[in-house]
Amino acid sequence: MPAVVLVGAQWGDEGKGKATDLLGGEVDYVVRYQGGNNAGHTVVIGDQKYALHLLPTGVLSPDVVPVIGNGVVIDPGVLLSEIDGLQERGISSDRLLISASAHLIMPHHKALDKVTERYLGKARIGTTGRGIGPAYGDKIARMGIRVQDLLDPGILGKKIEIALHEKNQVLTKVYNRRGIDPAKVLDEYLGYAERLKPHIADTSLILNRALDQDKVVLLEGGQGNLLDIDHGTYPFVTSSSPTSGGACVGSGIPPTRLTRVIGILKAYTTRVGSGPFPTELTDEMGEWLRTTGGEYGVTTGRDRRCGWFDAIIARYATRINGVTDFFLTKLDVLSGLERIPVCVAYEVDGARYDEIPMTQTDFHHAKPIYEELPGWQEDITEAKTFDDLPKNAQNYVRTLEELSGAPISAIGVGPGRTQTLSLRPLI
Ligand code: GDP
Ligand code: IMO
Ligand code: MG
Repeated sequence: MPAVVLVGAQWGDEGKGKATDLLGGEVDYVVRYQGGNNAGHTVVIGDQKYALHLLPTGVLSPDVVPVIGNGVVIDPGVLLSEIDGLQERGISSDRLLISASAHLIMPHHKALDKVTERYLGKARIGTTGRGIGPAYGDKIARMGIRVQDLLDPGILGKKIEIALHEKNQVLTKVYNRRGIDPAKVLDEYLGYAERLKPHIADTSLILNRALDQDKVVLLEGGQGNLLDIDHGTYPFVTSSSPTSGGACVGSGIPPTRLTRVIGILKAYTTRVGSGPFPTELTDEMGEWLRTTGGEYGVTTGRDRRCGWFDAIIARYATRINGVTDFFLTKLDVLSGLERIPVCVAYEVDGARYDEIPMTQTDFHHAKPIYEELPGWQEDITEAKTFDDLPKNAQNYVRTLEELSGAPISAIGVGPGRTQTLSLRPLI
């Protein structure tokens, strides 16, 4: 009953989409368990490039059942246009299952996400503006509207009315925005209901039964460890739990059934939006990493902030998620550097830290302590095995492995499906 979790080990965009896709041939179900269309997962198959936001990456593998778990927040309009976009490219989403207990992103969530960010001014989080935070906020406040409500027009109408009774006050009186017409929203969402109905299912039951039958379930995280609402750089985080614990809550698969946790780890570090980032490079070296690594957001198109590899946060990801294997991505991007600094500790107000500081204030003041490793000049994008890598690249990988606290079992040397070196089977 292999249930494998795949989590981002840094601040998202580590290459989770590529890693999930790679495992597509070996798994039966791929489940998104949290987040929403704030995610942007890129998959490159041959000369085709796909950017997925809500659909689990498994949709691209013909024998996989893609599942949107109960922990996800769904913008139904976005989901349907993603399904239609894939259909135009000859990819069917007919097998898609959507948890009846997942929550819906409503128009007021998107309006509130944008306006609250504007009001925060310089203190803004830099959200994707997709309504993620307000949708999860309503879920926790027990004001949310769920996928199953789409099956009952009477209940749906009532819930929209109750929600907008309050949210329109906030939008108009606090933020001076226009109110939203409940009748229009009901009409729009009943339209979505028609198309989504055949996909709605008791996904926890289906997944646990599949595990009983020895099927392989891959739980695909969005975002990353440091964007986790509990374990990330709060408040500069997303509003869900991308960590491996969240995989259980967001899918209805119990912790006792998880067999492996794969951390996706970029060979350097990036982050989008505001918040602390000790190894960030704001000079031309950062620009070089951005250009060479193509570090531009898949969802919002924003420049990603770039910096050197940070072993403290990698080790933190191992601890929080119980990482059993790392998939190191984008090693090829570092080719051509003379020396490559790796952050091995922080200095905060004169004291050395070997772990993430307990408080955000200290983390904000953390200065990286670097060790420099020798670089390599060779292009490694054609490498097929670990032995094909230049000695210094091998040494870089081994050093990262030692510092991160879990074995590196796969290495990405390019965006393509085949540009991966396998050191150990992941499933
Ligand atoms: P995700 O959100 O974790 O799925 O990652 P994104 O798709 O947002 O960003 C990762 C980017 O790196 C995408 O453009 C991928 O195609 C690309 N990528 C993934 N693995 C590798 C790799 O090993 N080498 C290179 N050069 N690019 C990669
Ligand atoms: P994938 O799955 C990188 C960031 C946003 C912002 C913060 C909160 O592609 O790795 P939100 O809209 O979630 O309320 O924004 O989280 N963020 C991501 N950064 N990759 C992502 O997803 C992200 N999803 C959200 O930039 O800083
Ligand atoms: Mg991404």
